[in-house]
Amino acid sequence: MELLDKLNWRYATKKMDPAQAVPQDKVDRIVEAARLAPTSSGLQPFEVIVVTNAELRAKVRAVAWNQAQITDGSHLLVFAAWDNYTPERINQMFDYTNQVRGGTNDGWEAYRQKLLASYPGRDAQVNFEHAARQAYIGFGASVIAASFEGVDSTPMEGFDPAAVDDLLGLKARGLRSVTLLPLGYRQAEGDWLVKLEKVRRPRDQFVTELN
Ligand SMILES: Cc1cc2nc3c(=O)[nH]c(=O)nc-3n(C[C@H](O)[C@H](O)[C@H](O)COP(=O)(O)O)c2cc1C
Repeated sequence: MELLDKLNWRYATKKMDPAQAVPQDKVDRIVEAARLAPTSSGLQPFEVIVVTNAELRAKVRAVAWNQAQITDGSHLLVFAAWDNYTPERINQMFDYTNQVRGGTNDGWEAYRQKLLASYPGRDAQVNFEHAARQAYIGFGASVIAASFEGVDSTPMEGFDPAAVDDLLGLKARGLRSVTLLPLGYRQAEGDWLVKLEKVRRPRDQFVTELN
């Protein structure tokens, strides 16, 4: 299947088959797609938490509009963004880059100083929102990767982030949950959406071509 066929195949699955688990190698590749996603300045200001624990997923479901995919799927990905940009976090990423690449250069170090002079001084909420936008890029990559793997998923914003942060102990780690992505396999019976046509605005209302 071409990628676009897979994107047409995917949909925000409403009912997952609790009897079918996604193989770990597929989950790993879906998570890897998020790790490989581009982020602003390459800071990767988010993490992915993979929850399989049934009890924990039941607790998350209770603060996520009782959405059944969270417990019917086999894996729950939680995308959690940095709560702020700190000098430590920025330096860590620049230092790590230097380590991986075996050196640095003046332009790169000047860029580090530019970020250090601007990001940490901003309001934490502004920084979190910037970090959350980067988390969405990884989230999107995982949604696409899941379809590529023939795995169903449900992108979710329908949850209480503060409650999820409490359940997963994210605050103490300087993280805030942004989105959820249950993974599993569709169960056509009981899924009101599975047979409905995908709705997207026509291309001419979506794309402007300036030649
Ligand atoms: C950021 C985001 C949050 C969403 N939150 C939920 C959600 O909490 N529950 C749900 O069932 N669907 C959720 N959706 C699914 C959308 O409603 C769905 O992607 C959209 O209607 C397009 O349909 P399709 O994905 O089936 O093609 C969310 C999608 C995105 C991208």
